[in-house]
Amino acid sequence: MSVPNDRYLPYETEIVERIQETPTIFTLRLRFTDPQLQKNYSFQPGQFNMLYLYGVGEVAISIVSDPENNTLYDHAIRMVGRVTKGLAKLKQGDYLGVRGPFGRGWPLQKTQQKDVIIITGGLGCAPVVSAINYIMQRRAQYNRLIIMQSVKHSDDLIFRKRYEQWQQVPNTEVYLAADKASKGWPWQLGRVTDMIQALQFDAENTLAMLCGPEIMMQVAAQELIKKQFAEDHIYLGMERNMECAIGHCGHCQFGGLFICKNGPVLAYSALKELLGTAGF
Ligand SMILES: Cc1cc2nc3c(=O)[nH]c(=O)nc-3n(C[C@H](O)[C@H](O)[C@H](O)COP(=O)(O)OP(=O)(O)OC[C@H]3O[C@@H](n4cnc5c(N)ncnc54)[C@H](O)[C@@H]3O)c2cc1C
Ligand code: FES
Repeated sequence: MSVPNDRYLPYETEIVERIQETPTIFTLRLRFTDPQLQKNYSFQPGQFNMLYLYGVGEVAISIVSDPENNTLYDHAIRMVGRVTKGLAKLKQGDYLGVRGPFGRGWPLQKTQQKDVIIITGGLGCAPVVSAINYIMQRRAQYNRLIIMQSVKHSDDLIFRKRYEQWQQVPNTEVYLAADKASKGWPWQLGRVTDMIQALQFDAENTLAMLCGPEIMMQVAAQELIKKQFAEDHIYLGMERNMECAIGHCGHCQFGGLFICKNGPVLAYSALKELLGTAGF
């Protein structure tokens, strides 16, 4: 894995395209302005970058792109606060800084020749999109692929076209559910637990990748364990407030773990004692 030469320094990128996904979610498609860096930059699915809005601050954002297509780097961003609202105002042709990639991604080697279930909630699908793309590029190396996404409201669903494309791929199942839906929602009404309960798995030969609100991941992991999944067959994409992203400042500490360095992807077995505990 090659990274920008200095992990402390943000490198200049240009916004090649800005895509408005929903009223509060947008994608920035980035390219490094340094041709050498642009050529050498690579990442693993599940890793994140620190995006720096000049003069305002940095935020951790997952890389959504296909890791094989190393020319443009997509970041799907939800407007929540100071930096993300500032990033939302940028246009095509504007510049921002990028440090990264950081962290440990999804266990895609371990999942080869196995079934894979990907369970996401809310914008949680962003960190696993590059993992799904990775599997799609090497479809024969993986067995059954189940993609589940739950949203509070059907209007929150992003990447709708991608789900429609993925479900056309052989041996791939897509299940989408919304707690509440607008008229014409073609998928299920309900929660992620309902979808897990309704499916049969070969638990011994399946690895699960979970991403989204922590409570949703906790509930989904417990549901999978009821279906005989081993705790170390369940991986969670964790999120914490990040500052340094390199294990120095302690902002992202989760017990003895640094989410930026040991994660953000971690096995349920490593997280379960503190998951859902207030203050962690
Ligand atoms: C590994 C990782 C990957 C991420 N990937 C994405 C992504 O792909 N797309 C995306 O939109 N966001 C992602 N995030 C979350 C993103 O980093 C935060 O939303 C962002 O830092 C908020 O910054 P802000 O200045 O806009 O908001 P602030 O003004 O800092 O905060 C606004 C509100 O959001 C809360 N908040 C801030 N950061 C986080 C966080 N990390 N988790 C939960 N609540 C937080 C604050 O407590 C506050 O209530 C990721 C976070 C991590 C750690
Ligand atoms: S963000 Fe500083 S230690 Fe993880």
